[in-house]
Amino acid sequence: MHQDVERVLLSEEQIKNRIKELGAQLSRDYAGKHPLAVGILKGSVIFYADLVRAISEPVEMDFMAISSYGAGARSSGEVKLVKDLDTKIEGRHVLIVEDIIDSGHTLAYLKKLLSARRPASIRLCALLDKPERRVAPIDTDYKGFEIEDEFVIGYGLDYAGRFRNLPYIGILKRSVYEK
Ligand code: IMP
Ligand code: MG
Repeated sequence: MHQDVERVLLSEEQIKNRIKELGAQLSRDYAGKHPLAVGILKGSVIFYADLVRAISEPVEMDFMAISSYGAGARSSGEVKLVKDLDTKIEGRHVLIVEDIIDSGHTLAYLKKLLSARRPASIRLCALLDKPERRVAPIDTDYKGFEIEDEFVIGYGLDYAGRFRNLPYIGILKRSVYEK
């Protein structure tokens, strides 16, 4: 275990098993719909790569980048579009793939932005959800795990750009971000 990790919250094995279940559910729900999976950079890339491979239906891939966090451990509430989609989504079935929903600001902003482009449907798949922290009302259609209000890292999630390549999800030691 990494020295900055307080404890492992979700092991590689637990994540893998849950993604298999999500993939099976998505394969059924999107059968014949040729969905566009929209990954939110950068946090979702690891989850995204595993998730699309767990879906047995053809899936088209595209990415957006949003910034809301800065280098701190708490959301600023300020959301900025950094990279837009390359794909036209009018009439398409869009599945937003996100690493974690915290305050909900990012997803509320994104859903509003993408809905205005008239997709046939728009749903959200998030690996992690911290329901206690929600400020903006947002429904997660597909959810990996609900977690407690702790700052987590690994499996794509970062603290100040670090820890994304850890293969598990761990709770970051408070001493790392409180000093
Ligand atoms: P929201 O707009 O507050 O819902 O924030 C969502 C974004 O904040 C996520 O996409 C993450 O990039 C980041 N975030 C929220 N909580 C955590 C965490 O515990 N660890 C790492 N990043 C987080
Ligand atoms: Mg993110």
